Amino acid sequence: MRAPVVASQAMIGVFDSGHGGLTVFRALVQRFPRVPFIYLGDHRNVPYGDRPSDEIVSLTRHGVEALLRRECRLVLLGCNTATCVAARTLQRDWLPVSGWRGRNILGIVAPTVEAATQTPWAVTTPQYPQKYNTDLVAVFGTTRTIASHAYPEEIRKRCPKVTVVQQTCPELAGAIEHGAPEAELEALVERAVTALLAQTGGTPPHRAILGCTHYPLVEHLFRRHLPPFARLLSQPEVVADSLEDYLNRHPEYVVAAQTAPLPVLLTTGDPDRVSATSQIFWPGSPAFKRITH
Ligand code: DGL
Repeated sequence: MRAPVVASQAMIGVFDSGHGGLTVFRALVQRFPRVPFIYLGDHRNVPYGDRPSDEIVSLTRHGVEALLRRECRLVLLGCNTATCVAARTLQRDWLPVSGWRGRNILGIVAPTVEAATQTPWAVTTPQYPQKYNTDLVAVFGTTRTIASHAYPEEIRKRCPKVTVVQQTCPELAGAIEHGAPEAELEALVERAVTALLAQTGGTPPHRAILGCTHYPLVEHLFRRHLPPFARLLSQPEVVADSLEDYLNRHPEYVVAAQTAPLPVLLTTGDPDRVSATSQIFWPGSPAFKRITH
């Protein structure tokens, strides 16, 4: 039985532009059943994927602040777009002068790059054996994630001989969110994979990063259309593994509850509509509540 969260507990917040982060959030709630989690989806402003960078930074900062005000000591950006565009600015430039002491912000690019390169995030120069890695890595993501070049830059720091090929998947996140039929989703995935293979001259990637938190819902379609030996990185699992490691090293960010707490789901949008759509991402998920500040 899960119990309601007590407001004074140290919570972990997960922020996303909308529903996609639920794929990560669900994996975290399952991995850490005694940790109190809050999810905030900025459904009023979703999607972020095509917005200008300064808007993404500002919206993400508002979301992070809303979670910090709600007893979160740690906020994870469960969104590739927000992480690629805003994480560094918020971590380095905003948080230290924001007045929020003893808090931290994490993103989901770092654990994904660690998994793709088999190299810890703290290691930013090529080390043996990864400096000789010549794999081809594919990154699928939103327009803004791809334009940020965050994945290729971070991968190449650790694996300079790896070739990183990026591919946007126009309309895919929106189609997933609107509950589009399987055939429509498959056509969008097939189009993205075909465009990627056109870039590589038909050479199949060794690994593929599904760099948008919506895409785990169509992972089976990527598997179907990518060549069979391409290894897909599953972000929800990768992020859960990484958070487990982080919390072992930083126990100050969490106070585990005696009984399993109910995860809290918040939205800037219409809670009824958002709760209905959330069933696509997390069947049986708790209902969302609206926040205005
Ligand atoms: N959740 C976002 C991501 O992971 C995608 C949705 C959006 O464009 O807002 O990139």
